[in-house]
Amino acid sequence: MRQAKRLAPLVPSPIRAMGAGAPEGCISLGLGEPSWPLPDVAIPGITASLQPGQACLYGPNAGTPELRSALAAYLSLSEDSFMLAAGSQAALFALFQAWAGDGDDVLVPDPGFVAYPTLAALAGASARPYPLADDGRLDPDAFVRALAASPRARLAVVNHPANPTGAGSDPEALSAVASACASRDVVLVSDEVYRELYLGGKPAGILDGGLLPGVVALGSMSKAFAAPGLRVGWAFGDPAVLAPARLVHNAMTSCLSRPAQAAAAALLGDAARVVAESRRQLALRRSAFEAAYSEAFPAEPLPALPAGGFYHWMRLQELDGEDEMAFCLRLRDEAGVIIVPGIAFGSRGSGRVRLSWAGLPGDIREGVRRLATFLKAGRIPA
Ligand SMILES: Cc1ncc(COP(=O)(O)O)c(C=O)c1O
Repeated sequence: MRQAKRLAPLVPSPIRAMGAGAPEGCISLGLGEPSWPLPDVAIPGITASLQPGQACLYGPNAGTPELRSALAAYLSLSEDSFMLAAGSQAALFALFQAWAGDGDDVLVPDPGFVAYPTLAALAGASARPYPLADDGRLDPDAFVRALAASPRARLAVVNHPANPTGAGSDPEALSAVASACASRDVVLVSDEVYRELYLGGKPAGILDGGLLPGVVALGSMSKAFAAPGLRVGWAFGDPAVLAPARLVHNAMTSCLSRPAQAAAAALLGDAARVVAESRRQLALRRSAFEAAYSEAFPAEPLPALPAGGFYHWMRLQELDGEDEMAFCLRLRDEAGVIIVPGIAFGSRGSGRVRLSWAGLPGDIREGVRRLATFLKAGRIPA
């Protein structure tokens, strides 16, 4: 047997690898998933679609009429301007397959979400990392320079609020990046899955001023709607970009799970209340994180509030000269707390770690305490 050559660069997600084989009692500040309850409004739809004696049918490729009309109302867009997907991850997969292929380049942020380079490789393309500004925000000049240096670029991704840096992007930077892509006929995907989960001002969206040719944005049930397990997400924007991606998604999954679609339609129908509750839950976790942080690291200023999401992108001097993955595994096994080495997000993540404060407040407090105790004890030999 010989597996397909394009799989060669693929490795299991380093974020998942940190969790696999973790000792009992370990606290995870690793995964980026809301720990607060699925809103009650989602439940009747799930049970109604799973009744005894009732068939559980596939449904249309494009999604159930109920979910399509709920999403159309939520986005204020017509149905040809969005594509439902099995999580925004599946929307990314379909867009990468549709718009990048053998010998093409895909511009991805460094540091950036771990899936982007993997999805480029799966499409047979090469990921071309572009640097972010020191504060983690999108740097339009650096993006434009990277684009100029990639004559084979067909697709580019921006992510704001960003994973792992938490930083947002201003409308001018987004429009500069969109114009640069348009001038080169490069499709631009703006990953905005953390956009509704903010505690300060509402982060900018690339399509706030209306649709743009060649540009699509991503949204999801997984963060602000507190439902990552439903696996429902979407891309919206230029119908011409979405059309071939829909065919890929149809080939991959046929259609989304019916119970998940019923739940997602109910959550979207009650979006204002659901998202407000998610922000309230986020604020509780932020308070727990800040209290634990100031107690654990009294000499340091409080970490800046992210533009959206629940990540702290922490510089750690202890990583200097260390094997960063090995350091985090030691922290996990000896102190019982999981964090993600920054290097997992690209070479420019070196010297940092990502802490997620999406978990339960008690776990956040204990996880930060364990991290600080481990660091204060000095380097522990491997
Ligand atoms: C930046 C970013 N984009 C996309 C996703 C995928 O989310 P989902 O497939 O759950 O919608 C994630 C998940 O953590 C993410 O961090």
